[in-house]
Amino acid sequence: MRYITFALAKGRLAKTALAMLEEIGITCEEMKDPNSRKLIFVNEELKLKFFLAKAPDVPTYVEYGAADIGVVGKDTILEEHKKIYEVLDLGFGKCRMCVAGPKSARSILDGNDVFRVATKYPNIAKDYFYNKKNQSVEIIKLNGSIELAPIVGLSEVIVDIVETGSTLRENGLEVLDDICQLSARMVINQVSMKMENERITNIIDKLRKLL
Ligand code: PRP
Repeated sequence: MRYITFALAKGRLAKTALAMLEEIGITCEEMKDPNSRKLIFVNEELKLKFFLAKAPDVPTYVEYGAADIGVVGKDTILEEHKKIYEVLDLGFGKCRMCVAGPKSARSILDGNDVFRVATKYPNIAKDYFYNKKNQSVEIIKLNGSIELAPIVGLSEVIVDIVETGSTLRENGLEVLDDICQLSARMVINQVSMKMENERITNIIDKLRKLL
């Protein structure tokens, strides 16, 4: 039997994903050691491997088959559009993708002038403004703390994830428009889905029963 490999998005999602997997009997004791510098973890008994990767890299590992299964946010799936199967909404990590900015930016959004949009998600922002809104905007790619952009005058608005809304509130910003709902998803390599269908379907079915 060959190994089935899981790629989990590092950070907020990984912990919950591992807890969910544990509930269906998929455990990895090695992974629980907080002092370990190991990058890949093995469960020999179940012939499973696990690794953590930066969220935007998870769809890449899965597309190329370096991982059979990935757990990653819908935001990353939409942004990266890789050839992978999205098979399950895991129901945690719920948040939304929004256009946000200061209240004063509302009129800019409704106007005809070109404005600037800062975001970690240029493809999602392009799709929203160019295809859905038919608006010409300038998109500026940032790598984090996106809320800074309108505060320091880099952009008029941002496209970013809103979970509780406190980051926006504490910085005098608000949601100006909703783009879509997000949550953690399970994704599968297209060849693995055929070659290891029984083992993978079994995992998906067990997880689905938890939801
Ligand atoms: C995310 C997002 C917002 C914040 C939203 O950032 O980009 O900044 O969380 O959460 P809230 O609505 O509950 O305040 P993250 O902490 O992942 O880091 P980043 O800013 O570096 O992307």
